[in-house]
Amino acid sequence: MNFETKAIRLQTDRSQFQEHSTPLYLTSSFVFEDAEDMRSSFAEEKERNLYSRFSNPNTAEFVNKIVSLEGAEAGYAFATGMSAIFSTFAALLSSGDHIISCRSVFGSTHSLFTKYLPKWNISTSYFNADETNLIESLITDHTKILYVETPTNPGVDVLDLEIIGSIAKKYNLLFIVDNCFATPYLQNPIQYGADLVVHSATKLIDGQGRVLGGVTVGKKELIREIYLFSRNTGPAMSPFNAWILSKSLETLSVRVEKHCENALNLAHSLENNEKVNFVKYPFLKSHPNYEVAKKQMKLGGNILVFEVKGGIKYAQKFLNNLKMCSLSANLGDTRTIVTHPASSTHSKLSIEDLLKVGITEGLIRVSVGLENSDDIIYDLTQAFGDE
Ligand SMILES: Cc1ncc(COP(=O)(O)O)c(C=O)c1O
Repeated sequence: MNFETKAIRLQTDRSQFQEHSTPLYLTSSFVFEDAEDMRSSFAEEKERNLYSRFSNPNTAEFVNKIVSLEGAEAGYAFATGMSAIFSTFAALLSSGDHIISCRSVFGSTHSLFTKYLPKWNISTSYFNADETNLIESLITDHTKILYVETPTNPGVDVLDLEIIGSIAKKYNLLFIVDNCFATPYLQNPIQYGADLVVHSATKLIDGQGRVLGGVTVGKKELIREIYLFSRNTGPAMSPFNAWILSKSLETLSVRVEKHCENALNLAHSLENNEKVNFVKYPFLKSHPNYEVAKKQMKLGGNILVFEVKGGIKYAQKFLNNLKMCSLSANLGDTRTIVTHPASSTHSKLSIEDLLKVGITEGLIRVSVGLENSDDIIYDLTQAFGDE
């Protein structure tokens, strides 16, 4: 089956009611036939649902689809993208372990690396997105995980998964990729040697700004560890959110195609705007890693960044002038969302760290939505004003 077909047809089995669309299994637990059924189920002698913190038909359908779309072996669904990322680290790391990560990571992931994991004596070394040649020099005897996001949030840097995957393999490191900006439709990190792929399903996978969700997929034996950790600690996705997200996947390919078309149109328009210092979008020829993006991504995604001339004062004026686009913390919604990373999603970073990951005061991030492309361009153009 091809991508679009799998996203639609990988459903849970029908019940006796022969429903066409999978119903919502809003139940916290499942009943046993008798004492022996209960014993053997808890002993994992059979595969069945016991309790929705462990598994549920709706979460299983959602997970099975992502597993298949990413080319993985197994997976587990979480309440949010951050609980997927945290639980993955917590399940696989021990005191004394070391992570190597690209410096450009989502703000909360950065907080995990710098504030929380050190509490358990787990340290992280960063490399800059354009310095993958330095990764090998950061490896120590304690390094266990090589972690990247690509394209990165918010700078849309593109990292070469093939090169990083080969380093992970050479040194026997677990290679983990946050594939949130690309979605399984545009990029499959497992093809390049990723052991695990994490997603915030809150973004393009839901695509309509309704529910939170996260998922980790990859090698069976690693997912087993993550499952056991999560089964005991409780970050599970709710069946309701899984039901929504599994149905969202049915339209992922058509939505993402249109998001990418709108984003490329906007990127071209901003490139020709004299009030803009630069525009960064993976499928613009001017992107420093355009060739890598073309190699590993089907299309450029829906996120672009640009820098307005005039710094923070002008950036704020620009945001206040927008008439249609939303100022909101989310991304990957049908509605175009404009943010100022330095004062919002990445405000916990020091000025020094912000500059290291390319977040200047005038940097604006756009999550391009599914409105008519001309209307998006019109709103962003008129927001520059006359001065
Ligand atoms: C790249 C990336 N990873 C992870 C997350 C966290 O996802 P969630 O908000 O679902 O916890 C986000 C959220 O914006 C993100 O952009």
